[in-house]
Amino acid sequence: MPSTPYRARISALGSYVPPRLLTNDDLSKMVDTTDEWIRTRTGIAERHLVEPGMATSDMAVAAARACLAERGFDPARLRMLILATVTPDMMFPSTACLVQQKLGAEKCWGFDLSAACSGFLYALTTGAQMIAAGVIEHVLVIGADTMSSIIDYQDRATCVLFGDGAGAVLLERAEPGDENGFLDFVHQIEGEGAAYLYMPAGGSRCPASQETVAKRMHYVHQEGQQVFKYAIRKMYELCKEILDRNRITPDQLDCFIPHQANQRIITATGERLGLDPEKIIINIGRYGNTTAGTIPLAMAEARRRGLLRPGSLVLLAAVGAGYTAGATLLRWSV
Ligand code: UT7
Repeated sequence: MPSTPYRARISALGSYVPPRLLTNDDLSKMVDTTDEWIRTRTGIAERHLVEPGMATSDMAVAAARACLAERGFDPARLRMLILATVTPDMMFPSTACLVQQKLGAEKCWGFDLSAACSGFLYALTTGAQMIAAGVIEHVLVIGADTMSSIIDYQDRATCVLFGDGAGAVLLERAEPGDENGFLDFVHQIEGEGAAYLYMPAGGSRCPASQETVAKRMHYVHQEGQQVFKYAIRKMYELCKEILDRNRITPDQLDCFIPHQANQRIITATGERLGLDPEKIIINIGRYGNTTAGTIPLAMAEARRRGLLRPGSLVLLAAVGAGYTAGATLLRWSV
């Protein structure tokens, strides 16, 4: 990555999950599944879901407030926010606008970013580059998804996987000479993945109609095995690439924080990279796949476990619908 005079660092972290729980046993009363199948194939035991009426902006605001409060940062000082989501409150206006107003961030601009499970990483990179360019000093990056709003609770192959949740980090310009903060990123999109993980209706290709509703086309459709194979290969490849080009060996990493789609994808990536399992964050058991929410929720988990200290070398990685994929290297700085 070209060197710039400014480096972005994470200066605060906040997260939010709604209190309502949906356990594997609950799901086994709704579709033909078992706790045993879900745990062994995915690692998930339970997930949090919003109550009816709660939307992505509500969770995003809760995570953002927790994040800004941790730094004692007045929302009125905020100049930019980026919100990663595939479940906006509405098609438009952007959920970023709704969050800006609820936060009272009156001098702020920003936008939604759609990259599914890689959304948080892409938003982090975008925010970090704005800071690196020297045009802004703070960016609030939020990942939030209300997956329960687009999940078909009659489809056992997808409904067991997802949950609702949100997380936020404050990026700020590091002091000159501070070696902590963003080091590098590698991101990639491959549109062949659109055939395997998508929501068929509700966009311009297939607008909402009685027929699309009757055919259950406003829900997530996934060919799990195809996505699984791609995710296992791509997460490893991008992690390897970013480590190699920064001349970092896996044993130098303090923490690996991957997107939480399936425990088997995470452990396979960790094993191929030769990572110490103690340094790999897996919290999918409690939250399921919260799409753009997984990485900040996993950061909160890593911090609780004492794996994130100032200077800790951290690798982030994600693969998701699109396909979208990415890996990011940073030194923790809070
Ligand atoms: O974050 C976004 C990216 N998404 C992902 O990374 C997800 C990637 N894919 C996966 O994690 C896995 O493919 C799944 C967890 C979705 C599925 O696991 P799998 O080991 O690939 O199972 P499968 O799709 O091959 O299904 C195996 C069997 C099938 O039955 P038959 O055909 O062997 O009789 C399915 O019908 O399991 C059946 N099955 C279920 N059985 C009980 C599928 N879902 C369930 C279920 N409960 N919930």
